[in-house]
Amino acid sequence: MKSIVILISGRGSNMHAILDAIADGSLPVKVAAVICNRPGAAGLAFAAAAGVATRVVDHREFADRAAFDAKLAACIDEFSPDGVVLAGFMRILGDDFVRHFAGRLFNIHPSLLPAFPGLHTHRSALAEGVRVHGCTVHFVTPKLDHGPIIVQGAVPVLDGDDEDTLAARVLVAEHRIYPQALRWWAADRLRVEDGRVRLLPPATPDPAVNAAAPALLIAPAAA
Ligand code: GAR
Repeated sequence: MKSIVILISGRGSNMHAILDAIADGSLPVKVAAVICNRPGAAGLAFAAAAGVATRVVDHREFADRAAFDAKLAACIDEFSPDGVVLAGFMRILGDDFVRHFAGRLFNIHPSLLPAFPGLHTHRSALAEGVRVHGCTVHFVTPKLDHGPIIVQGAVPVLDGDDEDTLAARVLVAEHRIYPQALRWWAADRLRVEDGRVRLLPPATPDPAVNAAAPALLIAPAAA
């Protein structure tokens, strides 16, 4: 079974969704460790309570990004994971780090990339008046919030939305698409060709897994 290290910075709800999918048997991967750059982050306590090894690599203890990245990479490598999963990890990672984990480094971003890279994506979506917003799981490449797209989740933007209501609706979609992306990867079904992700057919048909090409999943609106 493939193993992953999950990197978080705070709440860790995407990590929680991944652990839930593992617990219910729908995601056959092992979480070797959860690593956080902020001591005291809520997600760390949750991971520890779930019996997952946790580590802190506090970015404030390093003189520059290269030193932080090197320590973080060494910490990850101790667990020899097959995949590295950025789940609300709020530090920009340098080219050397990204290259070291190339092809096995995943990120979730709260917009329909390539729209709205960077921060404050929900605010930007509201300011632009888009009618559809969402989230993206992609392979990480050196260019920030770019990289081959594995799956996207789309939600409507509703009259009266503010950043909080829109973020909550997108988060529901995030919690669906990250386990889905990792499920495809765990089954060796993802291939990157010319910068685009192709979904290979399943080795054995599994009705629980969406058999379509990397899909636009429309999540229900938050209650
Ligand atoms: C999520 O919305 C995730 O997409 C976003 O941070 C939030 C973390 O929530 N990530 C980024 O903005 C990365 N640039 P979580 O800690 O509850 O998973």
